[in-house]
Formats: sequence, structure tokens, C-alpha cells
Amino acid sequence: MSKTTEGASISTDDLIAENTTGLQSTWKEAPRGWGHSLHRLSPYIGGFPPALAHYFIRRFSDVGDSVLDPFSGGGTTPLEAALHNRKGYGNDIFCYAYTLSKAKCNPVNPENFEEYLDEKLDEAASVDNTGMRLLDNEDLQVFYSDYTLDQILRLREVLHDDDSPKAMYLKAVMCGILHGPSQMFLSLQTKDTYSGTANYVREYAEKHDLELPERDIRPKAIQKHELAQEDFIPPWVSSQTKITQSNATDLPFESETADLIVTSPPYMQTLNYDWNNWIRLWWLNTPREDERDNLVSTQDTDKYREFMRECLREMYDVLAPDSVAVLIVGDVRKHLSNRKQILNTAAIIAEEAQQYTDFDVHGIIDDAYDVENRSYVVFNRLKYDHDEDDEGRETIDRCLILKKGSPEMSTEPEIDWEKELYKSA
Ligand SMILES: C[S@@+](CC[C@H](N)C(=O)[O-])C[C@H]1O[C@@H](n2cnc3c(N)ncnc32)[C@H](O)[C@@H]1O
Repeated sequence: MSKTTEGASISTDDLIAENTTGLQSTWKEAPRGWGHSLHRLSPYIGGFPPALAHYFIRRFSDVGDSVLDPFSGGGTTPLEAALHNRKGYGNDIFCYAYTLSKAKCNPVNPENFEEYLDEKLDEAASVDNTGMRLLDNEDLQVFYSDYTLDQILRLREVLHDDDSPKAMYLKAVMCGILHGPSQMFLSLQTKDTYSGTANYVREYAEKHDLELPERDIRPKAIQKHELAQEDFIPPWVSSQTKITQSNATDLPFESETADLIVTSPPYMQTLNYDWNNWIRLWWLNTPREDERDNLVSTQDTDKYREFMRECLREMYDVLAPDSVAVLIVGDVRKHLSNRKQILNTAAIIAEEAQQYTDFDVHGIIDDAYDVENRSYVVFNRLKYDHDEDDEGRETIDRCLILKKGSPEMSTEPEIDWEKELYKSA
């Protein structure tokens, strides 16, 4: 008997891709943390592993094709596409996502970085910052010594209105060292994936006798840059990528320009991107309230459906004829008044695609990737807590595969994950 998914009236049996069994382990065979060093420029909560993007890019596109991610987050898809001789297009409405995607896809080359950094630090040194005049958020004093905060404030002032590729790269390098758990970071010991609240960090610091370290930006930024560029970066990456900052309901790409979409839309209200990144947003001079208004974050299933319907129509429009869209989405835990319910977001989106667009649903691959391999879990070496509803169902991630026209649904690519690791630059 077919089972109806929670939150969608469609039957799960109808949605299972005919060839999922053989597929499931493919990207999971990649060694933990697989991927180019640039992917690790700065953490992006909610990002998917580069191996997953790589797998679908290899499977559904050819060299020279264009691969688009309308919700590009940390830029995993466009970077992975460009590294493998495709055009990589990324879009995200969120300022931190845009900065990070742009930086990864336009890395400053190793010889020029130190010179540029020194030039900007020199300019920063002459900014008038008497008595920390520029400090507009006192919570930052919980994370930084006055010595380090003074440098951050000055550099922020210098880079404020500069959106040149070099400035975007330096801003992203700074996002990668602003806070974290070791001496590689500018803050006291805290998380790197998200910015903790000042109250929590203050109490934690008091309890563990943590001191505010006096650290200089220069060595930390150079170290981060060198680690990010440890692997060889093909010279065409910048010219083969395009990153935009728009609403996914209205993408700034012409009709029929993408040969493949590999993306991961927001899963209702699972992640609070503006709050999780409040220090990075402050650093990027972007008011959190503005970001919150732009980002789609709703617990209301009908509103979410409406939003995804518009996005799917837009994706259909930008896709070339006979091509594929892969959407990675996680189940969502919903608290009802008397119980917890797990919603199968992929099934909800599949239903929208089937009913309101010309996409055909090829299928859903359950358990898209091992939760242990989520980028922020790997970054922080966390143990991920599985979430369950009252019936014991776990939240898992799923890949929804949609077809426009009749694309070639080729067999699995042969990927030798060890060989496809990048050599040191
Ligand atoms: C699950 S994350 C994508 C992560 C990405 N695949 C990666 O590997 O880093 C979803 C993204 O959707 C973005 N987003 C939310 N609402 C949006 C909208 N209306 N238009 C464009 N992007 C949006 C968020 O900023 C977030 O980066």
C-alpha cells in the first residue's frame, strides 16, 4: 500500500526515482571533507558537501555547460562547476552568501594578496578611530580585545563601500577568521560556523576563564588565504563564473541560459541566516533587519509552497530545453500544539512542480547525504543530533530531481574520488 507523505498529498511511492538504489552511495564514497581548499574559505551553515554538487555536475552536465544555483549560499555549486570546466552561475539574496560566493569564484592570486592586504592595513592605520569612535555595537567587546577590535573597526571602515573583487575576497577572508575555536581566529574561543549571542559567550568565557586575545589581522588573514589556496586553482575560474544577489523568484539570468541547476532552497524556518551570522553581517556593514526581510523563512506551509512555486517557474524559465534541476532539501521538524511532526519538504516541492509548472518529477533520492558530512559538522567536528518526530521518523535530506523536456538521464559517472582530489598549488 502506498504511504502518503506528511505535508503533501502525493504518495511517496510515486516519487521514488526508479534508479535510486544504485545511486545512493555514490557521493558518499568521497572521503570525509572531500573538496577543493577554496570551499573552506569561510563556513556557511546549511551548505551541502562539494562532493554532492560534484556528483550531479558530472552526471548531468558536460564540459562547457552552464550550471546554476539560484540559492548558492557559500558558492559550493558555482565553484565546483568552474573547477570542472563548466560555467558556474550562483545567486543568493543574502549579503554574506553573495560575498562568500563572489570571493570563492574570484580568488585574489597568491602573489597579490599580501601586497593588497598591506595596502589596506596601511590605509586602516590612518583611519581616525579615537576611543573606538567607530564601535556601533558594544556586544563585540565580548568577543574581541580592544587591541584586535580596533584593527577590525579600521579595516571595516576602509573596505566599507568597496565591492571590487579584491575587496570582496578580503572581506570573505575576514569572515573566515572573525570568530572560531582556535588561535587561527581573531576572537576569544567560540564557534566559527555561527556567531553566538553576546550573553551566552560572556557567561561561557567567565565560566571557563577565557581571556580576550590580542591578535593581529595580518598573520591570521594570510594564514587563512594560504590554507584556502592550498589546492591548485585553474586560471579560468574567475572568467567562467557569475555571481548575483537577487531574489530567486526573479533571477537576473536570461531564459534558457542554464544547462543544469544544482541547488538547495531554504527549508522553511530551519535556519536563521541573519541571526547565525550577526557578527559577519556587522563586519559587512549590512543591517540584520534588512537581511531578515529579504530571506525566506516561514513555518507556514502554504506560504512556503507559494514561494517555491514562483522559484520553480523561474528555474524552469532559465533552464535550457531538455535539462535537469536537482534540489537538495531537508525534512523539517514542525512543532504542532500537541506533537512534533516531520514534513517531507522534497515531496512538497515535487507536488508544486507537478501541479503548477511544466517540470516532470523524475524522483526523490532519500537521504541525500550523511548528516555527519554536512559542511558545518565537518568544520566543527560535531556529532550531529538526529531529530525525530513523535512516530520516530528522522529528519533526513533528500534530492529531488526534476526534468524539463526529455534530458538524457545518463548512467552514473565513474568518479575516482581519490584521483579527483586537487594537487597542492
Ligand atoms: C540551504 S542554503 C544553500 C546552501 C548552499 N547550497 C551551500 O552549499 O552553501 C539556502 C540559501 O537560500 C538563500 N535564500 C533564502 N531566501 C532566498 C531568496 N528569496 N532568494 C535567494 N536566496 C535565498 C539563503 O541565503 C541560503 O543561502
